[in-house]
Amino acid sequence: MNSHAAQLNLILAWLGIVLGFAVGFFFGLNFHKEHWMGGYTSFRRRLYRLGHISLFGLAWVNFLFYLTTKSFTRASTAATVASWGFVLGAVSMPICCFIIAHRPRFRALFLVPVVSLFTGGTLTLWEVIKS
Ligand code: HEM
Repeated sequence: MNSHAAQLNLILAWLGIVLGFAVGFFFGLNFHKEHWMGGYTSFRRRLYRLGHISLFGLAWVNFLFYLTTKSFTRASTAATVASWGFVLGAVSMPICCFIIAHRPRFRALFLVPVVSLFTGGTLTLWEVIKS
């Protein structure tokens, strides 16, 4: 596949990790406050935590995709679409979490990361089976 596309997955993986640390640092400044963001179990606080965790989780997914493409022997549209699916998923998931934490009625926005990640995963599985 286009190695520039996979390179973007690698960059995004490390960017996600660094941003995840930064969000964790922000949490660390406030989490001792009993009622911060409405308390530990509040919807807003849960969505912020999900944003924090998704930065690491999807960094891992993008990193795995980067490594997986090393075994692809030729360029393919499916692998390129998968690459962009993982990029869009990793960018949009934490953004959705932070938006929906404040505007729960926009929760349908989660369809963007869910569909793009599902597409990326399915196409990668297809390429792995084929190779
Ligand atoms: C600079 C590094 C990090 C800092 C400062 C940090 C900080 C925090 C803080 C303060 C919380 C509590 C949030 C709350 O009270 O609502 C939290 C939750 C969490 N963090 Fe991090 N974190 C860091 C890195 C990581 C990493 C590397 C992972 C996993 C790969 C991770 C996974 C989680 C998870 C799963 C929770 C939720 C825990 C629970 O609800 O019981 N964090 N983090």
